[in-house]
Amino acid sequence: MQSALESTLDIQKIRQDFPILDQEVNGRPLVYFDNAATNQKPLPVIHALTRYYEGYNANIHRGIHHLAEQATAAFEASRRAVQAFLNAKHWQEIIFTYGTTDGINLVAQTYGRRFLKEGDEIIISTMEHHSNIVPWQMLCEEKGCVLKVIPVDDNGELLIDEYEKLLSEKTKFVSCVHVSNSLGTINPVKTIIDKAHAVGAVVLIDGAQASSHLELDVQALDADFYVLSAHKLYGPTGMGVLYGKKDILDAMPPYRGGGEMIKEVTFAKTTYNDLPYKFEAGTPNIADVIAVKTALEYMAGLGKENIAAHENDLLQYATEQLSELNGLRIIGQAKHKIGVISFVLDGIHHQDTGVILDQQGIAVRTGHHCTQPLMQRFGIAGTTRASFAVYNTREEVDRLVQGLHRVQKMML
Ligand code: ALA
Repeated sequence: MQSALESTLDIQKIRQDFPILDQEVNGRPLVYFDNAATNQKPLPVIHALTRYYEGYNANIHRGIHHLAEQATAAFEASRRAVQAFLNAKHWQEIIFTYGTTDGINLVAQTYGRRFLKEGDEIIISTMEHHSNIVPWQMLCEEKGCVLKVIPVDDNGELLIDEYEKLLSEKTKFVSCVHVSNSLGTINPVKTIIDKAHAVGAVVLIDGAQASSHLELDVQALDADFYVLSAHKLYGPTGMGVLYGKKDILDAMPPYRGGGEMIKEVTFAKTTYNDLPYKFEAGTPNIADVIAVKTALEYMAGLGKENIAAHENDLLQYATEQLSELNGLRIIGQAKHKIGVISFVLDGIHHQDTGVILDQQGIAVRTGHHCTQPLMQRFGIAGTTRASFAVYNTREEVDRLVQGLHRVQKMML
């Protein structure tokens, strides 16, 4: 079946940019379908990292020597690139973090501790990753706030009517995932944000899974905070971004204390640096921040809409092929999805499925995907999840289907 959305990308050529794909695992060519956990890195990103370490490794913002200036310029150029990627109004609104989890914890521990008080309500959803549940539970425990949860329906879509019922003048914060890492559901975040703003609540959107698939525009969304991780954007691990509206970030106390986040330190009193440095204590992840710019350029070069079209084609194809397997149930059939397909096989534990697929060179993720409450909602312990990136092919989907036949043959 040819999809109307099929892109014009030359996938075989793109695969040459990802040397890791060209290997055998357990005697079979690797099929890497664990992209929702982290996607692979193209050569330009790998080269950006080695170029930094081979050519201009130095600490930033501190030195006046040539290498320090070169590193600082590259680091700050990445900030501008991320600003453009998110369409943020000000470069000062881009805070570099260690990942999405770090960004959410920063907001909970600074905005939350400063501005939320006993009895205030925080709304999250059933499909949140643990990183968008636990920081809020910790805050609620400390401050006496109340956590409310938007339910999901059997297709894995948020029940917006129920969300409306949860909203009230007590709602002070809403934190919701843009795209579910477990199911692939694309949530109507603009609606979620607008409805929260109507009751005066501040909104954080977890964009970890959305960022390499959807066009992002924090101004059009009117998001107060938007967080993401570079490693799901064809960039390095251990590096992420917190976007926040400037006036909100300005009002927030710092998170970590240390070098670079200060203006002046005396034993009597410390004054803090301006945005964004107020939130970037210590030597940051310089090489990885620099390489993010390259990752964004790589994606832009392919065209995000082309990447999305290709992944949608794989999703449609995989959904059709997997639906034909007896005893396979897809978990998450939302109308709007990215290329993530989660499923259970009757009578077979997901871990066995993962091990037998791995024996055939096919990498998938199995388990609860750091979304235990969502698994509980569906009455399951976990799923097997295949998630697609720009370098995957229909032939690889066929390998998955053959692999699952083998799983059933061995286990049933
Ligand atoms: N959050 C990542 C995943 O979905 C690690 O697998």
